[in-house]
Amino acid sequence: MAEVVVGLGTSHSPMLTLDHKDWLTYAEGDKRNPELVAPPDGLVFSYEELVERTDPAVAQGITPEKFEAQHNQIQSAIKTLKETLAEVEPDVTVIISDDQDELLFEDLMPAFSLYWGETFPLVPYPANDDSGPVAWALANGWGDVPLDVPVETELGRHIIEYMIESEFDMAHSKYIRPQSGGAIARRYPTLNGESTYVRMTEDRPFGLPHGWSFIVKRLMDNAPMPIVPIFQNVYPPNQPTPRRSYAFGQTLRKAIDAWDSDKRVCLIASGGLSHFVVDEEIDRMTIKGLKEKDVDLLCNLPRHRLNSASSEIRNWVAAAGALEDKDIDFLEYVPVYRTPAGTGGGWTFARWT
Ligand SMILES: [Fe+2]
Repeated sequence: MAEVVVGLGTSHSPMLTLDHKDWLTYAEGDKRNPELVAPPDGLVFSYEELVERTDPAVAQGITPEKFEAQHNQIQSAIKTLKETLAEVEPDVTVIISDDQDELLFEDLMPAFSLYWGETFPLVPYPANDDSGPVAWALANGWGDVPLDVPVETELGRHIIEYMIESEFDMAHSKYIRPQSGGAIARRYPTLNGESTYVRMTEDRPFGLPHGWSFIVKRLMDNAPMPIVPIFQNVYPPNQPTPRRSYAFGQTLRKAIDAWDSDKRVCLIASGGLSHFVVDEEIDRMTIKGLKEKDVDLLCNLPRHRLNSASSEIRNWVAAAGALEDKDIDFLEYVPVYRTPAGTGGGWTFARWT
């Protein structure tokens, strides 16, 4: 039977590849971000409103020295995960992440789906010597060369069938379209009702989304072993509850264990923790739940704080369900505040053995 030999969790923001000297340039984008969901109430605010509401100590804490120290912490943590993967040399890597307006749109948005085509094309992010630092970071974080990432189709199909037998209504995907695009709305509460922000993406060639391509580029160095990409939709209105994500992870693990193969499997959660507004409280609750295997805590994480990109915490909750028999032996948490509005991210890296 197949064996899960190691688990990894990683954030995947462009900040993790961007030089710390360019973090403030990247942060300029926050002023136009309509998805600034803020703790503790999970309401959307404008950037200016958030500056008003945020403790001035946050602004005082933003210094080049701190950025440099945090950058070093992040790079060292990613190196640890990369080295772990190289040492363990799993035959297959099962990666749980979410599509963010990349291949999936509101023409059809499955809560859980799995891709089991022979390969997954990786379309590089364009960057050259004249590109700015952010474009460079996108390419060097999420993919800079065209690849056909191999997929472990046998395990993929086995997982789909096992999940269906276990009453999880798993969607599946066997190929991707040469061009994809569409509309996605983000629907979040504000002080005065709901805000709906619709983002249109024109049809364009797109391959492996960033949640998975980050793993291929930064942890596998463009030399990927076969993967099984699992898509969890983490955005309203059909995002799974944390309880469902946890149970999904538990059943996913049973599926892998029941696979009639002697292959060694690595399971990875990609995304999170809180962003685009840092929410240290939800991050620390999540980390406590992960470290102490506190199932109740993970299943009852306050859902109104799991929106915008903080919603990716669900990928970690699913991994926790899949890795119940393992312990976290490495965890780095780097909450980076990049503006006086408290925007940034709770960048987190972990290993279960
Ligand atoms: Fe993401």
